[in-house]
Amino acid sequence: MSDFTGRTIVLGVGGGIAAYKACEVARLFVKGGGAVRVAMTEAATRFVGPLTFQALTGAAPLTDVLDAAQDRTYGHLELGRAADLLVVAPATADLIARLRMGLANDAVTTVALACDCPVLLAPAMNTRMWANPAVRDNVAMLEKRGWHVVGPSSGALADGDIGPGRLADPEEIAAAAARLLGPRDLTGRKVVVTAGPTREPIDPVRFISNPSSGKMGFAVAKVAARRGARVVLVSGPVELHDPPKVKVVRVGTAEEMAAAVEEEANDLDLFVAAAAVSDYRPRDSVSQKKKKGDEDEALVLTRTPDILAGVGKRHSGRAGAPVIVGFAAETEGLLENAKKKLQAKKCDLVVANKVGRPGAGFSGDRNRVVLVGPGERANVEGTKEEVAEAILDWAVELLDSRRPR
Ligand SMILES: Cc1cc2nc3c(=O)[nH]c(=O)nc-3n(C[C@H](O)[C@H](O)[C@H](O)COP(=O)(O)O)c2cc1C
Repeated sequence: MSDFTGRTIVLGVGGGIAAYKACEVARLFVKGGGAVRVAMTEAATRFVGPLTFQALTGAAPLTDVLDAAQDRTYGHLELGRAADLLVVAPATADLIARLRMGLANDAVTTVALACDCPVLLAPAMNTRMWANPAVRDNVAMLEKRGWHVVGPSSGALADGDIGPGRLADPEEIAAAAARLLGPRDLTGRKVVVTAGPTREPIDPVRFISNPSSGKMGFAVAKVAARRGARVVLVSGPVELHDPPKVKVVRVGTAEEMAAAVEEEANDLDLFVAAAAVSDYRPRDSVSQKKKKGDEDEALVLTRTPDILAGVGKRHSGRAGAPVIVGFAAETEGLLENAKKKLQAKKCDLVVANKVGRPGAGFSGDRNRVVLVGPGERANVEGTKEEVAEAILDWAVELLDSRRPR
């Protein structure tokens, strides 16, 4: 049986004859320890009563986003945010077309648009409908966007036809869902992640900063929480939502970030320093706005605390020390600088990141990095979540050998 402990799965149910099998899918998620929330299309409610899903999952399904009684305070967005995985079963031909178009005209499509988690489609329809190029094209497009598909299987259909179009077996859907959710290998571990830039004030309206979006650190925090860790994310000023199941501490300056990390450093298992911390701050920040003059101005800068080195020094040499991962954003000498950082900051791994070129580094959704350890090196390219998975795979292996549970 698949294990869904600590996971939130949103099950989107379409209006096909296989909707009754979605009850069994919901039951398997619940049996595996998952928290299950259901969204149904209007047609789905004609095939199976929402009460059945309520009884199976303990929560009333969302069936009408315009009904104030059931979609209180943007419930569809809340479902989208809470979901670790969205499973659409059965995905009818019509629902697949609406999902492909990006419509948001019912509970399932609206929640799907508001999700940023993986999506698993389990199509089910008549075999000639499934063979129709319109359906195939819609499914292909959704797969191209990164959605996953399980089934349909082949056999005798409820309408009397024989061929592909049957909803995949509920056990098969549950197994595919478990694969997509990945391992829970950080359960019982405390992970602290820093993210984003810092802002070092010159005066009340000006500051020194950098263009870090925080996306890489947020991805690490999100994936670590998904893998079972207790996560604290200390973030500089960014325009990103709190990842689900993560304690977020928002700070402004490098000093505030250092203090927030220090506060959480005691029972730490893994520290991932993804923030682009300003190395310097204006020595004399003034409380009133600086007035413009005719002469050149000189700004005296002083060093900020080195957060990564601080955590490294604190634990260095201790048996069972936490695993420490640093980031090196470089425009040149990527590997040499990463190796230097590895030693100087007493890190276990440095994620070397060439910035200042398209497709990597600040602000985008993808990244291209080199993982540099004391004796090994690996190139990783993908979405920031995929890069986060690779960093955590590496960290978990070391953590398990250094601090067995
Ligand atoms: C008895 C019956 C069974 C149906 N089974 C399916 C099905 O298995 N797959 C499908 O794509 N459509 C099926 N349909 C058609 C859908 O119910 C119809 O396209 C509906 O608009 C789908 O709504 P939804 O996509 O919003 O859930 C069936 C219709 C009826 C009357």
